[in-house]
Amino acid sequence: MGETRRRYRILIVDDEEINLKVLSGFVESFGYDFLLADSGKTALEMLAEADLVLLDVMMPDMDGFQVVRHIRDLDGYRDLPVIMATALSDQRDRLDAVSAGASDFITKPVDSTELRIRLDAHLRLKQYHDQVMRYQENLERLVAERTRELEEAQAAKMAAHLETLRRLSQAAEYKDEETAQHIERMSRYCALLAEKLGMDEAEVDLLLHASPMHDIGKIGIPDSILLKPGPLTAEEWEIMKTHTMIGAGILDSPSSDYLEHGRVIALTHHERWDGSGYPRGLSGEDIPLYGRICAVADVFDALTSKRPYKQPYPNEKALRIMREGRGTHFDPAILDLFMDSLEQVLAIQKRFRD
Ligand SMILES: [Fe+2]
Repeated sequence: MGETRRRYRILIVDDEEINLKVLSGFVESFGYDFLLADSGKTALEMLAEADLVLLDVMMPDMDGFQVVRHIRDLDGYRDLPVIMATALSDQRDRLDAVSAGASDFITKPVDSTELRIRLDAHLRLKQYHDQVMRYQENLERLVAERTRELEEAQAAKMAAHLETLRRLSQAAEYKDEETAQHIERMSRYCALLAEKLGMDEAEVDLLLHASPMHDIGKIGIPDSILLKPGPLTAEEWEIMKTHTMIGAGILDSPSSDYLEHGRVIALTHHERWDGSGYPRGLSGEDIPLYGRICAVADVFDALTSKRPYKQPYPNEKALRIMREGRGTHFDPAILDLFMDSLEQVLAIQKRFRD
């Protein structure tokens, strides 16, 4: 073991000058450094510099027992070796010394060889103890570091996953939307409604990132229908409706909650409360909640945006049309929440303007 570290420092505490002189002479001859204190009070002030305390029991003011009790009450000094010097005759002193928290005791008058054996043993123990503590600290630091790295990597992976979903959704929108802002607005309307419905943060987040996938199936609809500037024929309309099923097909067997909710939303965002929607004609609460939320958000944004077949409607007209759909097209409770939150809705609309 390399002895490059500084020499150990023994704090010698004794109220008698002659004892300090003798003991420091011994300590020096063993190759250790020393510090001297002639009272318990002085000793307590020097603790930070000591590797071991050699403590006299019989002292005026504060005796050795009080000093060691004090040391053990201090933060970070529970393991500091304290050897108490007691008179040979006094068996009770030794028991008291141990119960007060001393690491060991040595009989007075102190024998040089005995002192050396005790000091060496306790300092070796301290060295091992310090090594273990350092090792443990390093280990804890390493674990904390690795945990942080892992968390960062996971967050980056999740961010990449979400970005991929958004870009995929944008790719589908790209065909018939003027800008990518539709899904930005729509997903935020959805998140707002989720929040108003009392969903927790995780669910709100889920909806925020799953709702952009609602029209992903438009990728499978021919441009001649998707971009037709006029009304669709009955046949074209049937094809148009299949974007829900195509979307659910694209998102089939999902590997994440986001994709699973995206699948449900793609499939159900055109269902209507009264059962007159598509593709399955579900009604009321048979329509998944996320689908009902997205229906409100999607229709409002469609009405207020430019589409190949229409100009944007002013907000008042769009809101009137939506109110007419309360209980027929839309879940009345969700529509009411939407109407109650108009101020926030319009703030989102303004922020993500085309
Ligand atoms: Fe749609």
